[in-house]
Formats: sequence, C-alpha cells, structure tokens
Amino acid sequence: MITPSIFNEGLEGNAAAAPERKRSDEAREKQEQGQQQVQQEKGQSRSVRVGGSQMPMVGFGTYLIADEDCEQPVTWALEVGYRHIDTAEFYDNHSAIGRALKASGLPRESVFITDKISPNGKFGVPPKSYDGVLQSIRHQLKKLDTPYVDLILLHHPFPPSADRVKQYTALVDAQKAGLVKEIGVSNYSRRHIEELLAAGLPAPAANQIELHPLNTYNKYQPGLLEYLAEISCVPIAYSSLAPASSWRADQPGKSSKTEAHCGHLAVQKRIAEKYAVEEPALLLRWAFCLLPIRPAAPPCVPPAPPFSPEEDFSRWCTRNR
Ligand SMILES: NC(=O)c1ccc[n+]([C@@H]2O[C@H](COP(=O)([O-])OP(=O)(O)OC[C@H]3O[C@@H](n4cnc5c(N)ncnc54)[C@H](OP(=O)(O)O)[C@@H]3O)[C@@H](O)[C@H]2O)c1
Repeated sequence: MITPSIFNEGLEGNAAAAPERKRSDEAREKQEQGQQQVQQEKGQSRSVRVGGSQMPMVGFGTYLIADEDCEQPVTWALEVGYRHIDTAEFYDNHSAIGRALKASGLPRESVFITDKISPNGKFGVPPKSYDGVLQSIRHQLKKLDTPYVDLILLHHPFPPSADRVKQYTALVDAQKAGLVKEIGVSNYSRRHIEELLAAGLPAPAANQIELHPLNTYNKYQPGLLEYLAEISCVPIAYSSLAPASSWRADQPGKSSKTEAHCGHLAVQKRIAEKYAVEEPALLLRWAFCLLPIRPAAPPCVPPAPPFSPEEDFSRWCTRNR
C-alpha cells in the first residue's frame, strides 16, 4: 500500500523540471516497489477505496479486548504489518490503541482507524441523538489522541427512524468539521440506508456487516451487496472466521450455528482439504473474492484453476439458500 503523502511528493514540480521529474518518478517507483515489497513481507494487505480514502482491506479487530489488555496486541498487529485497526465506543479500548499508535512511531496517515458510535442504550452505552453522537466522537478522539479517525460508523440501526436520521446527520457534520475522513454505517439493511437517502443525506461510504458463507446474506438480505455496489457503499465483512468448524465447537449453545450449519461445515472442511489450506485461509479467500471492489481499486484477480474455492463456495451457498 502506498501512503498518499509519499505519492504526492513524487508528483510535485513543474514542466521546466521534466527531466528531474522523470528521475524522481523513477526513484519514486523504486521507492514504492521497495515499500510494497516490505509491506508484502510484513503481510500488509491491499487497499480498497472507501469514499475518498484508501482503506487496507484486512483490519485488526479489537472487540472484547479490554483497554488494560489492548496496547500489546495492537502493538504486535502494527509490527506484523496491519495498518487498519477497528474499534467501537462500547469496546472502550481507545486509550490503549492511542498509546500503541504513538509508541509505534508510525505516521498517523499510514494507519487507518475505524471507529463506531453506539446509537442507543445497548451494551451499557446511553442512547443518543445528534449532540450525543458528536460528543462521543470528540470523546473517543481524545482517548485515541488523534485529531481524526479515518472511518466512523453508526454501529447498528436499532433506534427509531427519526433518531437514525439525526445520528447520521451528526456524522455528516463531523466529517465537515474534519473530525472524521469517511462516514458509514454497520448492520444496516437496504431499508435503513434508503431512509437516509430519502432524508437528503449522502450515501454511507461503507456498511460493516456480518458476512461469511454460513449467514447466507442472500437469504436474509436479498440483493444487499448488489444494492451497496449501486450506491458505491463498500461492504466490510466482520466475523468472517465464525464458520471455522472449531469455533465454539466445545461450547454447545454458545454459537448460533444450527444443525444445518454443522452439516455444511463438513463441506467446508472437504473444500479446505481439497485445496490443502486451513479453514480460516479458505474463509478469508471467500470474503476477498465475494466483496465487490470498485474500479478505482486493484481488481480482485481470481486464482488460476484448479484453485477456485470461491466457485465451490458460491455453488455451496446457492445450493443451501
Ligand atoms: N460491526 C459489528 O457489529 C461487529 C460485530 C462483530 C465484530 N466486529 C469487528 O470484527 C472483528 C472480528 O470479529 P469477530 O471476532 O466476531 O470475528 P472473527 O475475527 O471472524 O473471529 C470469529 C471467531 O473465529 C475464531 N477464529 C479466529 N481466528 C481463527 C483461526 N486462525 N483459526 C480458527 N478459528 C479462528 C475465533 O474463535 P475463538 O475465539 O473461539 O477461538 C473467533 O472468535 C471484531 O474484533 C470487531 O472489530 C464488528
């Protein structure tokens, strides 16, 4: 991934300085290639355009990591090459993430931070309207010790519709004030997004949703991904690894997997065996190939046959819809 500041440096100059620019272009290309190689070696992911920003496609999620435990995992994540950290108001671990970012010495613009606002009284966070959303954003920025986050989301659409519109209006104003680069939603259905558009608000740049072969979004939210593509709203998958057959296998009742799911897991295992990959790798591959990527972003190149687990998976999901 190339950080915007490095890219812009190479484009500066004027026509009279063309030979120099050519040399600096070559130098820049070399520098970028070197950086890409380092990033690849460190396992850093490709990026995708979200609104006007580039977002690293693989993020490090911090759900259930308490503030007192979170600094070390985020430090390790940054060390191994993650450049996208995902948090939320009710995860309540912003201070630790802020400390890890400072200690890493990385320039602020090289790390993409996604944050979320809890919109109602769930998870012990008080319900909020327009002012409450702005207050939370400011409070969370202070704890992160950063002037802005790259992407802010409304965590879910559970409040009444009048509040949803006010809450999203607060995100629009936070963006105008420079507190957030991009704005979006999470767990929103088409109906919820249409409500925002009907109120004359801009389309969210992203919708973070649970997305993996077992939740067969097509059954519960037919056409959601296609609709998101239509309005240039990027889907961000969470819980991609939940279908791993080991997940909560020893804790009956703790996972929402049904008997039917467990039957499908055998198919998943067979596919993983067929391609000699671990189940989590297969699941991530599925998510990469499923998520629509806008033309401005690098295309998702399907692997050469016979490695085509995404085909197997889509056949599998279609069959089980
Ligand atoms: N917007 C939202 O509403 C929302 C909701 C949920 C999550 N998120 C975000 O998405 C991030 C990831 O979500 P998540 O933790 O639900 O999903 P995930 O990363 O897909 O993990 C789901 C489960 O898969 C298992 N797992 C993880 N890595 C594995 C591996 N290498 N091999 C086998 N099993 C593995 C783990 O189970 P065990 O721990 O039991 O081993 C884990 O709890 C969160 O941290 C959060 O940032 C957002």
